[in-house]
Amino acid sequence: MSVTDSAAEKRDRVIIFDTTMRDGEQSPGASMSLEEKLELAKILEEMKVDVIEAGFPIASNGDFEAVRQISEIVTESVVCGLARAGQADIERCGEAIKKAKRGRIHTFISTSPVHMKWKLQMEPEQVLEMVTRSVSHARNWTDDVEWSAEDATRTERDFLLRCVEAAIKAGATTINLPDTVGYSYPSEYADLFRDVIANVPGADGVIFSTHCHNDLGLAVANSIAGVQGGARQIECAVNGIGERAGNAALEEIVMALKVRGDKLPFETGVDTQHITRASRYVSAITGFPVQFNKAIVGKNAFAHESGIHQDGMLKNAETYEIMKPEDVGQIESNLVMGKHSGRHAFREKLKELGYELGQNALNEAFQRFKDLADKKKHVFDDDIVALVDDALASG
Ligand code: KIV
Ligand code: ZN
Repeated sequence: MSVTDSAAEKRDRVIIFDTTMRDGEQSPGASMSLEEKLELAKILEEMKVDVIEAGFPIASNGDFEAVRQISEIVTESVVCGLARAGQADIERCGEAIKKAKRGRIHTFISTSPVHMKWKLQMEPEQVLEMVTRSVSHARNWTDDVEWSAEDATRTERDFLLRCVEAAIKAGATTINLPDTVGYSYPSEYADLFRDVIANVPGADGVIFSTHCHNDLGLAVANSIAGVQGGARQIECAVNGIGERAGNAALEEIVMALKVRGDKLPFETGVDTQHITRASRYVSAITGFPVQFNKAIVGKNAFAHESGIHQDGMLKNAETYEIMKPEDVGQIESNLVMGKHSGRHAFREKLKELGYELGQNALNEAFQRFKDLADKKKHVFDDDIVALVDDALASG
């Protein structure tokens, strides 16, 4: 057996659970039409996302219809609907996923002191009872039931252990420990999973899941840390959209696991070449632009302007790129011509535009290019053609 074989054997599968249409749609202003959701579900399925959380059926007739219709057209991915712990929520969700080839009910209740006291106005023992009741009820509709302890990272540990144990006993097959308010540190989040998995009877028979919000910009780091602590499902959203500062970004999670497989022996089933298409589609239908410097899918994620970087890239792309743009569905790296560009990149750009200049003409054209780049933010191909033609005419 070769070294690669043994490394491959050790790789563990991480389930990718996409919540773009549920938590993602909870971003103020990000609502999507039924047609857009159906199209997005097809894209996610083609991308080989394992679980698609298609909506919150009791929230509106539109959400119910989206989950119901997505359940009818998706055959490969699991289709999931969200439900609070009450019977009406669970029944509405059960109805919506009824036709799914593989349907999941995701039910949740808050477990932290602040949520129980102020939001639920319930005593911990009442919450515990609701955990058992909600999960058992959901099992009447499907044998794929996920239970979430909302605000798990601010929950008292002993109480969390009791709730998780009750959910498992009642038949939950996935246990999600959300960092609902994006409060955790990565090492803390990893320890949470280690502790719960080591101390709850039956924990070895279920899948543990992360669900991280980005209030401190730590959602992706926390999700990866959760996997290091024993989680095998990550909940995330395309472009990181979601409540407040958003959810962990699907594209960042998937590529972090792919690129650093040497460090973390985990892999996803996602076909990464669909990532850019999914990102652009979500941006178009929500109207949320993707920031230029956004990891993986930003316009500048594979763009290089400085002369030193462009020179390195022209010699070997590995000098400044840790993944190939083609791997995420982008056509190619982009050497942006600007005031930081050097002679090497300029010469390559001229070749691309069909010019082979002698040394003197090249020097003259390069000087003109630098003068122009000092005055102009973007130097386009047409600008370069014009200045070279000018230099040639006057030389
Ligand atoms: O952030 C959260 O806790 C949630 C739950 C409903 C899973 O979105
Ligand atoms: Zn959330």
